[in-house]
Amino acid sequence: MPNVSFVAPDGATITVDIPNGWSVMEGAVKHGVAGILAECGGACACATCHVFVDPAWLGRLQPREAGEDDLLECTAVERAPNSRLSCQLRVSSALDGLVVHLPERQA
Ligand code: FES
Repeated sequence: MPNVSFVAPDGATITVDIPNGWSVMEGAVKHGVAGILAECGGACACATCHVFVDPAWLGRLQPREAGEDDLLECTAVERAPNSRLSCQLRVSSALDGLVVHLPERQA
């Protein structure tokens, strides 16, 4: 099962196993990762699942779709070039070891 590491702003890191096909957000919520609120439950409507993808992984992700790109304008912490909504990142074996950084706040 692929694992994904979440790095808090203070550097604390939690690594969790997430089944193939789940979103990164679903894995975070299931494991109680602090810093992912996911208020809309993955409907790409709240922007409270914002993460900054570690630069080493950027080239391995599917590009953002328009809805995600639009919603990234509504994040609590300003978006960056490596910003993604974790509910739109689908876990697969190709993403085993993915590292994402959590913003200071989600709301
Ligand atoms: S969970 Fe709401 S946009 Fe990702």
